[in-house]
Amino acid sequence: MIHPKLPKIWYGGDYNPEQWGPEEWKEDHRMFKLAGIDVVTINVFSWALNQPDEHTYDFAWLDETMDRLHADGIGVVLATSTAAHPAWMAKRHPDVTRVDFYGRKRRFGGRHNSCPNSPTYRKYSGRIASRLAERYKDHPALLLWHVSNEYGGYCYCERCEAAFREWLQNRYRTLDAVNQAWNTRFWGHTFYDWDDIVLPSGLSEEGEGNVSAFQGISLDYRRFMSDSLLACYKIEAEAIREHSKDVPITTNLMGTYPELNYFDWAKEMDVISWDNYPSLNTPVSETAMVHDLMRGLKDGMPFLLMEQTPSQQNWQAYNSLKRPGVMRLWSYQAVARGADTVMFFQMRRSIGACEKFHGAVIEHAGHEHTRVFREVAELGKELQRLGDSLLDARSDAKVAILYDWENRWAVELSSGPTVELQYVREVHKYYDALFKLGIQADMISVEADYSRYDIVIAPVMYMVKPGVAKKLEAFTAAGGTFVTTFFSGIVNENDRVTTGGYPGELRPLLGIWAEEIDALPAGQYNQIVMKEPFGELDGSYDCEMLFDLIHAEGAEVLAEYGSDFYQGMPALTVHAYGKGKAYYVATSAAPGFLRPFLAKLCADQGVKPLVERLPDGVEAARRVKEGRSFLFLLNHNADLAAVDIGSGKRRDLLSGQILSGTVELPGRGVLILEEV
Ligand code: GLA
Ligand code: ZN
Repeated sequence: MIHPKLPKIWYGGDYNPEQWGPEEWKEDHRMFKLAGIDVVTINVFSWALNQPDEHTYDFAWLDETMDRLHADGIGVVLATSTAAHPAWMAKRHPDVTRVDFYGRKRRFGGRHNSCPNSPTYRKYSGRIASRLAERYKDHPALLLWHVSNEYGGYCYCERCEAAFREWLQNRYRTLDAVNQAWNTRFWGHTFYDWDDIVLPSGLSEEGEGNVSAFQGISLDYRRFMSDSLLACYKIEAEAIREHSKDVPITTNLMGTYPELNYFDWAKEMDVISWDNYPSLNTPVSETAMVHDLMRGLKDGMPFLLMEQTPSQQNWQAYNSLKRPGVMRLWSYQAVARGADTVMFFQMRRSIGACEKFHGAVIEHAGHEHTRVFREVAELGKELQRLGDSLLDARSDAKVAILYDWENRWAVELSSGPTVELQYVREVHKYYDALFKLGIQADMISVEADYSRYDIVIAPVMYMVKPGVAKKLEAFTAAGGTFVTTFFSGIVNENDRVTTGGYPGELRPLLGIWAEEIDALPAGQYNQIVMKEPFGELDGSYDCEMLFDLIHAEGAEVLAEYGSDFYQGMPALTVHAYGKGKAYYVATSAAPGFLRPFLAKLCADQGVKPLVERLPDGVEAARRVKEGRSFLFLLNHNADLAAVDIGSGKRRDLLSGQILSGTVELPGRGVLILEEV
């Protein structure tokens, strides 16, 4: 449970009372009550208000706000206000603003605008976090600490450059080791002095679209920036801990946000929280995958849905309204996948600056007679009825997908073999196939324990980190099914190729070797031609983008390429390894192939779908705790869907009805079914 003081699914969100006055505050509280709001996040962007100058702190408004909220029974997620530095700080201490990718020094403005290695930023952010913790540690409204906000933004200033050199010294000890790791004899890059090394930017190694001339340095720079920003988080978290011993600390993450290695971050966070902003046409399975990834950051521990919009965003190209029922549906999607909170940005719509067109629980109309408010209030009542029944419930998935930020960096920094390859998209293809089969998956780190799974899938495991190949061998030898794809096993953690034939360290496990990699432009295909039926797979399936030209060396060939000069070479192989099997999918396969392929692997391992024959557009997920099992069915269609849940009896937590056999879900409808 995130905090025993509020033993239900938390309901509320970001609240900026400092932009309003007593009249609105009164109305806010009245409407919070109507909507069942019991928690708000405050003080996210109030640094300038809290600290008018170098030496003065003024928390009067915050004291009043905390007391006022508490008086009405509303809990507080208290932010530290450090995600936008005050104007005076930028004026007096220029080191606080960042330098961009093209070497331009930023001026005051915007937010998330601080250099993570700025001594000024580190000093003052730590100091205000400490003051806040000292002041509010025993406040009865306090539920959770929220450090800064959505960390991100790389910096290319001289201080960061100096800090990068230090970071490199810690990692490599000697310049020889750096030269070796980055293969600097290429293009005459040998470094003789630590000061020879400059940041990889638009002025040095990197170009538009992320591609780098030197993947080694670019990869290390990303690790270093993730560490630098994490160091800022740690400074504040430690400052809080000195005063506030038991209240959990978080910062809000952003799903697959590319810049930070969240698996590293998770180790420093007490609980994961994240902000979910899909657009109307984001595949629902992609949102599901990202929720699962956030759950995977801390080994399956429930997380907070810290922000979502009740209706629309302001920062997308087209800010569509969530259609009636969609806000509720997507809220339950988060809960189904491990969220123990449903929270919004923002409680009241601001009247000036860029977020005035961002949806809010309380709209500019200012009263409760709006569609959005009605939907929010209805959901609030439901969450009250659910009480603590779902809190802390976990996933019991038997299939895991490996996800790795550093691998993603390396793949996307790569010059060749194709510009089409996007790591998240390839991972999602496998996730989506499982999702549509109704098979629950966990998204896990390469460092996680694989032994609790029957199937582990590693799409595009380009980078094989130390020890991972051995772990996968042990997992497979013990009876596991391992699946990996084209463009895997190519490099080590420094982006240096493992020679002797791809997939390098994964060769013994997969029983194949790849000689060449072909790339075709979007819209051009080859085919995966099955040699014999494999489950429902039979005949020929399109494949695209990248095509490994592989040779079996112990593996059995299940399918071959259908055309081009490598027609007849293996496209799908399986290698018996100990008690298990290792599959290699040598090309980017279409959904029409992946779904039956994964269905067969699951059937062979006895992994059952949550629901047989899940209709299109219906999502299934399961959470379990203390012998209780909750099946979520979410109908993402606008029309009615009928789902056969089998003959066992289940109680719908929302209506109390006992159901079995075929159940009907209205368009955008939700069922939470407990086995009875
Ligand atoms: C982010 C931020 C919020 C707000 C929302 C708007 O998630 O954390 O402060 O700007 O976006 O969508
Ligand atoms: Zn900097």
